Amino acid sequence: MNANEKPAIGVIGVGWVGLVTAGCFAQLGHPVFAVDVDERKVDALRAGGELPIHEPGLPELIERNRGRLRFTTEIDDVLDAARLLFCCVDTPPTYSGDADLSRVESVIAALPDGGGHALVMKSTVPAGTGTAIRRRRPGLAYVSCPEFLKEGSAVEDFLHPDRVVIGADPGSEAAGDAVADVYEPLGGTQVRTDVASAEMIKLASNAFLATKISFINEIANVCEEVGADVSEVAGGMGLDDRIGPKFLRAGIGWGGSCFGKDTIALKKLAGNTGYHFQLLSAVIDVNELQKRRVVGKLKQHLGSLAGRRIALLGLAFKPDTDDMRDAASLVLAARLQGEGAEVRAYDPIAEQRARELLPDVEISDSPASALEGADAAILVTEWPEFAELDWEESARRMANPLLVDGRNFLDPARLRAAGFTYEGIGRPADGGAAAEA
Ligand code: UDX
Repeated sequence: MNANEKPAIGVIGVGWVGLVTAGCFAQLGHPVFAVDVDERKVDALRAGGELPIHEPGLPELIERNRGRLRFTTEIDDVLDAARLLFCCVDTPPTYSGDADLSRVESVIAALPDGGGHALVMKSTVPAGTGTAIRRRRPGLAYVSCPEFLKEGSAVEDFLHPDRVVIGADPGSEAAGDAVADVYEPLGGTQVRTDVASAEMIKLASNAFLATKISFINEIANVCEEVGADVSEVAGGMGLDDRIGPKFLRAGIGWGGSCFGKDTIALKKLAGNTGYHFQLLSAVIDVNELQKRRVVGKLKQHLGSLAGRRIALLGLAFKPDTDDMRDAASLVLAARLQGEGAEVRAYDPIAEQRARELLPDVEISDSPASALEGADAAILVTEWPEFAELDWEESARRMANPLLVDGRNFLDPARLRAAGFTYEGIGRPADGGAAAEA
């Protein structure tokens, strides 16, 4: 390696986090060796075809840096080439709610002692995991470097981090310094700490964001009772520096692969030590109820939902992703079908996933066909294209122009002028203009 050459980096697991990590480090000039046990995935990545996930900017990033990226199914290729190994395998929840660490365990089992490698844990693991690994494998340098990427803006988030958390315990300081060096060009505050604290920063951050959302959702529910508008309330609250304006958008609750998993993991982790994390139990319950409240709103207008046709606009857990893990749409579709309704849905990119996950839902290829003859529509995901819809025409298509805006995304006045009965979340109820029309 000459003086200008950047050290090689190993990435273990090329799921969403692994691919973003590999692409971004290659962009920074590192040769990157990425391994995955899934042969088909590796073959596809080598062949340069379509990526297995939808993430803005990622295909271009991978293509641009192809010369520095090697994809393999052989961990030995990575171990020979790189010392710093970023572990990006997934840690899904088990039936007990604890994180399933089996993939992390197989990575550790594959690492030799005395090879000079450092394992950099990006996968979300319960606090205490790193210490347990070090106890078993004292010869292995270990760094906790949790990821805070948001789906839909992961590449941007990686390249422009607010903060980079680097946890290393005595004996792994040099590995911690090496991680700090590779992140240094990206800027952002580097938080150097111990492993357990780094692990907790990740879990606590996600649990706090989930708490913020459940909090504003409860405020929204109270706003409905007292005739206040939660958007106004959140706007006024957010101007207080100590509160801040972000993550105060009321709606039908949070979803995605991280919030549910991490809040439950943190609750379980506390529970395993004998501590009852009461607040988190409520945060999770509020989120579950929030999705179901929409069904109540529909019933207020329509009475029984049996035989009614309901359109879901958007299925992904948020815009700019095709990810439907823990999406509100899954619960809503099941609840509506449970009430005897016929559900039709449209999503601009999650269509393929939706067909697998919602086999009994008719997936439409346009908002218009989802809305045709519907007794009500629920806006589930705030895709920008819904703001551009011709709502007058949509109202005419529907059997009954009733819209529940699950993300407070649309302008109530505009929808009402278009002939809709509009219901948001925590917004003052319809003045009745549409009902009279
Ligand atoms: C989250 C964390 O933000 C990220 O740091 C972590 O690494 C992974 O988990 P992500 O799952 O991509 O990222 O989604 P995020 O943008 O945080 O949104 C999560 C959910 O909360 C979405 O369903 C979104 O619709 C909902 N949300 C967000 C609200 O309901 N209201 C808000 O104000 C913000």
